[in-house]
Amino acid sequence: MSPRLPFTSALVTGASSGIGEALVRVLGEQAVPQVVVARRGDRLEALAASLPSVEVLVADLTSDNGLARVAARIASTAEPIDLVVNNAGFGTSGNFHELDPDRLDREIRLNIAALTRLSHAALAAMVPRGRGYLLNVSSVASFQPAPKLAVYAATKAYVTNVTESLHEEVRRSGVHVTALCPGLTRTEFQQVSNSESYAAQYPSFAWMSAEAVARTGLADVARNKALSVPGAMYKGLGLVTGVTPRGLARRLSGLVQR
Ligand SMILES: NC(=O)c1ccc[n+]([C@@H]2O[C@H](COP(=O)([O-])OP(=O)(O)OC[C@H]3O[C@@H](n4cnc5c(N)ncnc54)[C@H](OP(=O)(O)O)[C@@H]3O)[C@@H](O)[C@H]2O)c1
Repeated sequence: MSPRLPFTSALVTGASSGIGEALVRVLGEQAVPQVVVARRGDRLEALAASLPSVEVLVADLTSDNGLARVAARIASTAEPIDLVVNNAGFGTSGNFHELDPDRLDREIRLNIAALTRLSHAALAAMVPRGRGYLLNVSSVASFQPAPKLAVYAATKAYVTNVTESLHEEVRRSGVHVTALCPGLTRTEFQQVSNSESYAAQYPSFAWMSAEAVARTGLADVARNKALSVPGAMYKGLGLVTGVTPRGLARRLSGLVQR
């Protein structure tokens, strides 16, 4: 059980599996009223049936209509949202020139454009209110280039950067803004991003549970940390990457992908 969380309500995108579902379950332990967003409505309905006060909002965040409906829900003054979690995201592993460019376009629309639009909706509602929480799910992949996962790492570099900027921008407003940067986490991500080989490639101690990642992210946005990196190993790696010459970090990252 997490320490008492301060959120009076929440909206979580990508709630139908993995880290998003874990976030919803942790918030549900403290009966925080929630709106859960994803495309697979059956999964969201099953989740809602197992927890108190969960509203289901089925939306494809790469579509204009889906994105507009979620932004409008965040902007609602009748039923305000106290915590917004931009968690929905996916990656595409492989040689850049061999990948489907339409899929990369959808990846950029979800990981960057949708997150930006919903962050805007969140802060536009929260800053005048003088209260609120925005948690954007990035990745440790955002800290250096990642050959064979190039577009994904670049989208997450955007997420970490824009979120840190927003953290500083609203620091005196009463609103908390945090980038959650997990390392390898057991979810459907590997299957979706065609990186299932990672399971054999990386030792078991390198993997975190979605629940541990979710608990750390929620505790850190409550504390108003700009960056949240779950797990001692990934915190250490983040520090090492920060002082490693960029050319070396790039080469090492390329070797890890082979
Ligand atoms: N797992 C890892 O190792 C890892 C590490 C670092 C960061 N992350 C980040 O963590 C976040 C959550 O990923 P995860 O690991 O939990 O993966 P996951 O199990 O595949 O979950 C991804 C979620 O995003 C939703 N989603 C995908 N496309 C969507 C769309 N077009 N519109 C709305 N929702 C959509 C999916 O729901 P539907 O398919 O039902 O729409 C699902 O709920 C992502 O941003 C990912 O980049 C993951």
